[in-house]
Amino acid sequence: MEFKFSNFGLSSMLFIVVLAQLLFVAAEPVEYTGQNVVMEGEGFSISCKLTQFDALKWLKDNQQIDELQHTIADSRNQYVFEDREENGLIVATISVKSALSNHSGTYRCSSLSNESHNLFVLGDNEVKGEKKMLTFKQGTNVELDCSKDPIANGVYVWKKDEQTLSNNEKIRIEMGKLFITKGTDDQAGNYTCNIKQDNKTVYTREFEVTTEPYAKLHKYVNVVEEEKLKIECTVYGKPTPHVQWKVNDTLYPASSGRVNLLEDTERKVPNAVLILDSAVRGDKGQYSCIAINPKNQLNMTADITVYVKGKFDALWPFLGIVAEVVILCAIILIYEKKRNNNAELEESDTDQSPDQKNTPDHGKDSVRHRK
Ligand SMILES: *[C@@H]1O[C@H](CO)[C@@H](O)[C@H](O)[C@H]1NC(C)=O
Ligand SMILES: *[C@@H]1O[C@H](CO)[C@@H](O)[C@H](O)[C@H]1NC(C)=O
Ligand SMILES: *[C@@H]1O[C@H](CO)[C@@H](O)[C@H](O)[C@H]1NC(C)=O
Ligand SMILES: *[C@@H]1O[C@H](CO)[C@@H](O)[C@H](O)[C@H]1NC(C)=O
Ligand SMILES: *[C@@H]1O[C@H](CO)[C@@H](O)[C@H](O)[C@H]1NC(C)=O
Ligand SMILES: *[C@@H]1O[C@H](CO)[C@@H](O)[C@H](O)[C@H]1NC(C)=O
Repeated sequence: MEFKFSNFGLSSMLFIVVLAQLLFVAAEPVEYTGQNVVMEGEGFSISCKLTQFDALKWLKDNQQIDELQHTIADSRNQYVFEDREENGLIVATISVKSALSNHSGTYRCSSLSNESHNLFVLGDNEVKGEKKMLTFKQGTNVELDCSKDPIANGVYVWKKDEQTLSNNEKIRIEMGKLFITKGTDDQAGNYTCNIKQDNKTVYTREFEVTTEPYAKLHKYVNVVEEEKLKIECTVYGKPTPHVQWKVNDTLYPASSGRVNLLEDTERKVPNAVLILDSAVRGDKGQYSCIAINPKNQLNMTADITVYVKGKFDALWPFLGIVAEVVILCAIILIYEKKRNNNAELEESDTDQSPDQKNTPDHGKDSVRHRK
């Protein structure tokens, strides 16, 4: 009895020790090595290190892989298992020659440990994200987002028109996000974001960034009949906006009849300058310059009022002054003539005045004084 009892005690003690050891070992983290991201069609292999006490059992998304195996038809897509011993530990490996997108998931080699290894299989459609079109207003901020789960830990390489970008006063890169501060036409262009893992592009995305078109005109312009009417529209935007004109309500997408549309040579914007060679009175009216972003038809319209003056319109005030002067002169002349006539009459009346007779006497006096 005594022996039996102690025997039981020993075995139960041994059992407790083993159990404790098992629990302790199970609590030890299981280490995994292997790819995290692979392309569809590429091979992958995941390894884990276990103690001999761990029960080796491969699971994908908590489902036992042995059971999944039967559903995979092509052997290249099937899981291959391999175990070997290394320094008293078991190194278990699971691999596939040609990955399918449904091999993506969370892998574990022991149901007792909660550590796991994530694998993401990228399909061709996933490697190249959808191209994004973005338009911003000059002077505003823009954000390009290229973040992609589950490869958030990759290396992001940003390019604009094939030039690799780094931070500057206009551009700030924070992993998957690119921020443009107070952007101008210079920041418009084609941006690409590449996410690299193991020195391999696993995701790429394009952004076509344009600016909103901008058009500006003076409020009004005066032109003299028969002279040249020239209206210059200040146009900005990237890509260079298409410019159309409206005269009253007639649209001019290009030069037509007397309306000539020329390039603004300074900013190199076709159609930005409107010219009418010899203005007529009927050319007065409302003129509009319409700048259109060719990528998305976004547009901005600027208006100007054209006044046409008659050729001699400017002359009338001048002629008025001339007429005024002429009339004034005439009045003065007539008045003067009248006054002179009166004066002559007066003169003839006083011809025999004593004043005139005395004059020679005065002269004699003065001569005498000098002697
Ligand atoms: C993955 O998908 C293929 C078909 O594309 C199928 O034959 C295979 O059984 C699937 N594998 C798993 C593990 O679901
Ligand atoms: C695994 O489980 C332990 C304890 O249960 C917990 O502290 C740890 O955060 C878990 N690890 C993961 C990766 O879930
Ligand atoms: C951006 O790409 C589009 C089409 O791929 C092209 O039409 C456009 O000219 C490019 N823009 C620049 C600034 O290179
Ligand atoms: C990545 O590839 C480039 C050339 O393609 C090479 O110069 C570079 O050393 C590689 N970097 C790593 C970490 O493998
Ligand atoms: C525009 O409309 C005004 C008012 O109807 C008219 O007097 C003018 O001649 C028009 N101009 C042109 C260029 O058609
Ligand atoms: C200008 O934009 C408006 C929408 O804002 C659009 O309806 C119109 O067709 C555009 N005009 C041109 C000439 O593209």
